[in-house]
Formats: sequence, C-alpha cells, structure tokens
Amino acid sequence: MCGIFAVIGSREVSPLLIDGLRKLEYRGYDSAGIATIDNFNKDQIEKLNVTKSKGKLIHLSNLIKKKPPKGHVGIAHTRWATHGKPNEINAHPHLDSSGQIAVVQNGIIENYRDLSESLKTKGIKLTSETDTEIIPHLIGLEIEKSLANGLSSNEQTFLKAVQKVLTLLEGTYSIAVIWSQVPNAIVVAMEQAPLVIGFGEGEFFCASDTPALVGFTSTFLPLRDHEIALLTPLGIELYDNEGNRQHRSPSLLKGTQLLADKRNFRHFMLKEIYEQPETAQQWIDRFLPMDLSSGNSVALPISKSTLEKIEQIQILACGTSRHAGMVGSYLLEQFSGVPTKVYFASEFRYAPPPLSPNTLTIGVSQSGETADTLAALRMEKERRGATKDANYAFHQLGITNRVDSSFGRELDNVIDIGSGIEIGVAATKTFLGQMLSFYGLTILFASHRKKRTPQEILDLSNDLRLIPKQLTDLIKKHDSLSKEIAHLFAETKDVIFLGRGINYPIALEGALKLKEISYIHAQGYPAGELKHGPIALLDQHVPVVSVAVPGVVYEKVLSNSQEAKARDARLIGVSTNGPESEMFDELFTIPKVTEWVSPLLTVVPLQLFSYHIAAHKGLDVDQPRNLAKSVTVE
Ligand code: F6R
Repeated sequence: MCGIFAVIGSREVSPLLIDGLRKLEYRGYDSAGIATIDNFNKDQIEKLNVTKSKGKLIHLSNLIKKKPPKGHVGIAHTRWATHGKPNEINAHPHLDSSGQIAVVQNGIIENYRDLSESLKTKGIKLTSETDTEIIPHLIGLEIEKSLANGLSSNEQTFLKAVQKVLTLLEGTYSIAVIWSQVPNAIVVAMEQAPLVIGFGEGEFFCASDTPALVGFTSTFLPLRDHEIALLTPLGIELYDNEGNRQHRSPSLLKGTQLLADKRNFRHFMLKEIYEQPETAQQWIDRFLPMDLSSGNSVALPISKSTLEKIEQIQILACGTSRHAGMVGSYLLEQFSGVPTKVYFASEFRYAPPPLSPNTLTIGVSQSGETADTLAALRMEKERRGATKDANYAFHQLGITNRVDSSFGRELDNVIDIGSGIEIGVAATKTFLGQMLSFYGLTILFASHRKKRTPQEILDLSNDLRLIPKQLTDLIKKHDSLSKEIAHLFAETKDVIFLGRGINYPIALEGALKLKEISYIHAQGYPAGELKHGPIALLDQHVPVVSVAVPGVVYEKVLSNSQEAKARDARLIGVSTNGPESEMFDELFTIPKVTEWVSPLLTVVPLQLFSYHIAAHKGLDVDQPRNLAKSVTVE
C-alpha cells in the first residue's frame, strides 16, 4: 500500500527519493510523487518543488531526470488509491493554499469529510478528492495562527503546528511534512500505520518500511503509535502525543530485512517459489531439530501453562494467511483434537462470536501490518481485558514473517516464520512458512494433550523433515510442465478449483493466486459442493483443477471430478500418479505422502500454474494491478 520515503541531509535528495520509492514499489501503488525544498536557488527564496505522476515510478523518474528538482530535504510517496482515482491531482504530496507546506500520508483519515467542510467554511478550496489534502491546509492554518501570535518561523513552531493538527485527525495513518519556510526540517508522525527512521551519516531518512532504507543505512528506529519526530540534518527529536521527549536506542537491520534481488529469475514471484525448500529447511532446523530435548516435541514460543489452559483456538487472518489458518484449523482439530475456528479478520471485528473461555487467539499475517487483522486482534484484547475474568484472558500468538512489524511489537508471543523478505505481491513462500508453523502447533498440542501416540507424532515430524527435498524435486519437475500447461489455458475466462478436507484451503489458495496475478476469474470450492450449484457453470470452456490426494476423501474428490468431466470440463489434476489419475486431461503429480502433509506440496504446482499463465500474458506478476503487499487500511 502507500509508501512514504523522506530524506534530510547535505546531498541532492531527488535521486535518493526515487531510489527509496523504488524499494517500496513491492507494496503496490498506482501513482507517485516527490516534494523537495530548494533553498539554494539564485533568488534566495525557499520554495517547494513538487513532481507527481500517475502510474509506475518510471514515469516520475523520467520527469525528474528531465528537470531535476533541487533540494537537500524532501518527501516522497507511492499512492495506492483509496479516496479518489489514481491520477496526478490525487497523487501525493499535497500542498496547503500557500504552496509552502507539503504532506504525504499513508492510511486513512476517517473524519476527513467533517474537516474538509470546516476548511471550506474558512474559504479554503480543496483541489483533490483525497482525504490527505486537508492535512497541509490544517497545518497551514495552525502556522498562520502561531505567526499571528508572534512566534517565528522555526522548527518548534512547525513541530507544534503538526502536533496540534494530529489531535484533530481520526483514523490510522502516518505522515511526513515539510515547510519551505523551515527548510532544514521534516516532521513525521504515526498513528497505527508503520514508519521507521533511518540514521545515516550526516543524513536522516524516514520510510514506511525497512527495505526502503537498504543501501542508505542499516540503523533504524521504528516509531510507536502516537509518536511524532522532528528530523533535521543535526539529529532527531522524538516525542509522544503529550509532548514528552522520548529516548530509545535504534536497532540494526537484519539479513532478512534487507531487500532481496531477483538473481537470475524473471520475477520475484518465481524466485520466491524456488526458495520454498529453503524456507522449509530453515523452519525445520529451527523448530523441529533432531536433538530436541525429551518431552519437547517442537521448539515454539508457547508456555506450558498456556498449553495447559487452552481449550479452543480462534484464528484471525485475511487472504492467503487465512488459507494457511484453514489448513492449521484442520490439523489442530483433526490431528490434535483442539476445537479451532478461522475467521476473516475484517468480519470478526464487527461480528465477533460470544466470548469463549480459555481460548488462544492466533493472528496470521506475513506483513504483520494488515490493518484488518491488527484491528481484530486489538478488539479481542480489549473485550477480553474488559471481563477481568481469568478464564477469558487474552492468550495471544502471532504468526508472521516480519517480527519488526506492528505484530511483533503488539503481540506478546510471535512465531517468526523466517522466510526472508517476500517481494512478489502474491504470497508464496510465506504461505508455506505459515502452514509449517501450524504443523508445529499441531504437534505441540497433540503431544501435550496426548491425543496422538508418540509414534504418530514422530511419523508426522519425520514426514515434515522430508518436505524440503520433496519441494525441490517438485519445483524442478513442475516449472516447465506448468509452463506448457499454462499456455493451453491462458485465454480461459473462468476456472474452478476443487479440494476437500485438508486440501480445500489449497483449492481456495490456487484460485486466489490465479485471480490475483492473471486476472482470470477463479473460484475454489469444497469438491462436494460442486453439484449444489457451481456445476451449472461447467462446459468445455471452464476448466476444473482438482486437488486429489490419497486419504480420507480421495475417492470422493475423484467422483466429484468425474462429475465435472461428464460436463465436458477440461480436468487438471494435482494428484499422485496411478490408474485413477488417467481421468485427468493434464496432471501435476505429487509424491505419495500422507494426506496430513500434502498441502505443503499440492500448493506448489498451483503457484507455478498461475505464475506461468500471468507471465505468458505479459502481466506485471510481481505488482498486479490494484493489489498491495501490505494492506494497511481497513
Ligand atoms: C495473496 C495475498 C493476500 C494477503 C492478505 C493478508 O497472495 O498476499 O491475500 O495474504 O492481504 O496479508 P498479510 O498476510 O500480510 O496479513
């Protein structure tokens, strides 16, 4: 989603701003812009230079190359449209009426309508459709008041004006502001939308996410909610919302926070699919080592007392993370015997179930910044806290790939899936890492509750240890096959994905991947549901992808697939090789594994299938239209 990058120092900042924005491109955006303060021009007049452009960064970068805006201070933004179309007028930065104050914002100002009405009554004309434009105008009015009261145009006046305006704003947002009359300062602030400050040599940075800092500095400080900071070339002043100065030591970027490069792959998504054996191996080395001390089945951050108390689990997540949660829920109920429910985080917040006692709430998010998931977790914490009854206490666990995110900061226990940064908007290796974390929890609960025999638990652990090698073989085998098959289906308009039991979430995930990157309409169903409606869609133009793995529902899925074939649908199977698989027109074979671990493998051909269709169509695989990697608005 929107990305903020800001720099203050002694170098020309416009190339740095473009570089920073480039590293935030993976978040998804549809327009971009920068503003710099040019205080060294021949007229000795400080003025703002603003350059904006619709579409990809290359357009902005070309404009800047033609006419480089001067300045040692600047703010920059990639916008993912929420209020108003993606066009140049709505692109950030936005200015006040005097053209001296520029603001970039990530998030949503929920009360912007009321605030813009009050601005209109003061004769201020808004030029864009955005919720952001009110901010520079409000800051402008505050500054006007301060100057009328005899204050001078200095950093403190600037800071105080922004502080005052923050008290008027409702919503979740982060901002960066410059004022041409105070050319040596940037004011930044955050309210539930992440912002980090980078410490360079003689220069300071501010960004929505750590990858933007790579190449500039490896020292950073994440802002906390309600904090505001003043950045000057001499240093940083950090304040809480009551104006108290804050002092914290910065952290160092870890390897996983560094921006990955594409190596020899055409797209990040393909590279990330290829990285899955490594994700699995690292997960196994960390959480399922052979030398676990006796009594410990898996090395996860869950205390014995929590394990003893928990009677049920609720999982909150969105999109692909929710699909991982669904695989987890199947495992936790069917293997470990713990009643588990999965919720769309966006629904849970406004329609939560009645409070259940002794419940573990698990939030799943690769980015750790998904606004819907964070809001649902915060709501659950609040309503459980309000009961003051120990039985309803908030037992929490996060599963994320970004421990340096709001998830990491807000949740007491976090499983770091450690997949390494994922740049492709379509989640692949992080989905695998999330599923693996649920396998860990499953083993933990099953052994603690004595629901399974030690042999059954050992068998599952041993099956998991084989996964990295099986993934390597599978990717090698199916990359070229899926490329061939993808060519046959590139012009298709609708695809149905079927699965049952533990592979039903994989059917959903296969359909989501295809929709996201190839823009082909796809729908996942539990295979048994086909005859209750969706079958009406089938003919020779609607292919059916069927995930059929030997196990409790194998025969059933095969029968459901036959029903599709009888309606002339082309059948693509993800299945083991055997006489039954002859029914499939195209077949992605997977090795003979137990049904329990099969989702870790069945998802891979589906990822490759979607990837190759999108790549064949020449689409922007890593940054599909309208999508964002970090969905920071509700
Ligand atoms: C799909 C995808 C999205 C995300 C969803 C939640 O490929 O990436 O569906 O899974 O937006 O994001 P996180 O996991 O960051 O909470």
